[in-house]
Amino acid sequence: MATAELAGKHLVLGMTGGIACYKIAELTRLLTKAGATVQVVMTEAATQFITPVTMQALSGRPVYTSQWDARVPNNMAHIDLSREADAIVIAPASTDFLAKLAHGMADDLLSTLCVARDCPLLVVPAMNRQMWQNPATQRNVTQLRADGIEVLGPDSGPQACGEVGDGRMLEAAATYEAIASFFSPKILSGRRVLLTAGPTFEPLDPVRGITNRSSGKMGFALARAAQQAGAEVHLIAGPVALETPWGVFRQDVQTAQQMHDAVMRSVADADIFIGVAAVADWRVDHASEHKIKKTAERALPTFTFVENPDILAAVAKLPHPPFAVGFAAESGDLEVHGEEKRARKNVPLLIGNLGPLTFGLDDNEVILFEAGGATKLPRADKQTLARALIVEIARRLPDTSLIR
Ligand code: C5P
Repeated sequence: MATAELAGKHLVLGMTGGIACYKIAELTRLLTKAGATVQVVMTEAATQFITPVTMQALSGRPVYTSQWDARVPNNMAHIDLSREADAIVIAPASTDFLAKLAHGMADDLLSTLCVARDCPLLVVPAMNRQMWQNPATQRNVTQLRADGIEVLGPDSGPQACGEVGDGRMLEAAATYEAIASFFSPKILSGRRVLLTAGPTFEPLDPVRGITNRSSGKMGFALARAAQQAGAEVHLIAGPVALETPWGVFRQDVQTAQQMHDAVMRSVADADIFIGVAAVADWRVDHASEHKIKKTAERALPTFTFVENPDILAAVAKLPHPPFAVGFAAESGDLEVHGEEKRARKNVPLLIGNLGPLTFGLDDNEVILFEAGGATKLPRADKQTLARALIVEIARRLPDTSLIR
């Protein structure tokens, strides 16, 4: 999550009755941490699962549960509460509430708010798998989608009732991601983005190998930002300990050769290729099949290295290359090496990490090198920077109809 990613956004968070109410405590925390203001409205049934006091403490605002709440001076809570809202999010959304929404019913504060709204409505269903599969529920969900209501999830897996299947609410973090994605401008809508991220691992023997300090954070942040911008994202990752960004297709590889092969298999479908991975330049020729033993009489092992394929350069050399973007981490003289590297790899855009190597850090400062010159972007956390870079990339995209 970037700092204040939802700053300035006001959300009405409507809770209906279901055991998934416990997830909304965490969701509220994530939303407020991202800078959103959250007005919680609960149905009577929701208050059976979690108390308004908990939700008030987490949202920092009094919670509304009744249409007849005397705190609203004009007694029009159903109008006033959503007037400033950028969206209403119903989480968890029960079977009953989906049915009410589908039929425009308005018999309590939350349902009336939804009917009276002048803003987008997102629902996050949570129910037992049979309730979800019930033809009436499916009919209602189809109707809600047709009415322009966003349906987020549901997830599949073990349920509170002990059964396993579709219907459980998305986890709080996934719900947050879906909401953040909803608010992002869709500047890459319809585009396919292929990215590499993280280090590679080149084996010496079955237990040892050569790798580097890349954490994968910048590449994963870019994958997330591209997904939020509406792109279909395929992320090819070296060995990293990071969660897959929501809505991103991830493929794990170990070696540079595997990364190269995975890229080459998928690149024909891509409109944009972003090579963020710190790919090992060399690998050991013939890694040992068995663990190399340390014995008193044995001399120190020696290794012969061979060059790995340059993935970015190979992509740029294709007859119909996607818009290819490279990254450069240098330990000095970036201004000189950046433009030289961009020209050598023959890519339209190369992003250079400014200052000391930023491996593993949460923020970064970069320079964009392109044929017309260099542009510096302000220092920011990697997620904020990723969003800015996606805007810069989107701006430079040729009209695909011209190149494909
Ligand atoms: O040559 P250098 O490693 O500094 O170039 C960095 C850029 O080239 C990055 O975008 C990186 O992902 C890419 N690269 C590659 N294959 C290699 C080496 C680097 O795609 N074997």
